[in-house]
Amino acid sequence: MESSIEEVKFLEFPQHGDERGHLVIVEGNQNVPFDIKRVFYIYGSEANVIRGNHANRKSKFVLINVAGQSKVRVKDGKGNEIIYCLNRPHTGIYLPVMIWKEMYEFSNDSVLLCLSSEHYDANEYIRDYDAYVKEVQANQ
Ligand code: TYD
Repeated sequence: MESSIEEVKFLEFPQHGDERGHLVIVEGNQNVPFDIKRVFYIYGSEANVIRGNHANRKSKFVLINVAGQSKVRVKDGKGNEIIYCLNRPHTGIYLPVMIWKEMYEFSNDSVLLCLSSEHYDANEYIRDYDAYVKEVQANQ
């Protein structure tokens, strides 16, 4: 299974705001392009921390900074790289399988919501960048 960096998508979710505040709608197989099986969130990371540093063979993700901001660097293992700034609660990015990701520059108030297409399985994570590049080349 391989993915192209063009499949990484910036997403904008419908926002219903009125005098009571805002409500953002995120639905599996609707505006998220998979069935959501797992939700986790990351907060309390210092600005100089780099998280992620992995690619996934099976899991697809949508990342949303529901509070604060962070940056996400995505790589395809073929020399292409894009940096996204997640800084609005109604926007996110879609990450297909086999995309390398690094999350960094977390603001103090950052809450990074992560939706995944799969349950957690440590064996489908590739945590070594050189091994990831080799696997990308083997898949081509
Ligand atoms: P890790 O993958 O290092 O977090 P990130 O890449 O988002 O910075 O996960 C941190 C720890 O939590 C690690 O021991 C694995 C565990 N974990 C689970 O048990 N289930 C999960 O769904 C996730 C995302 C992590």
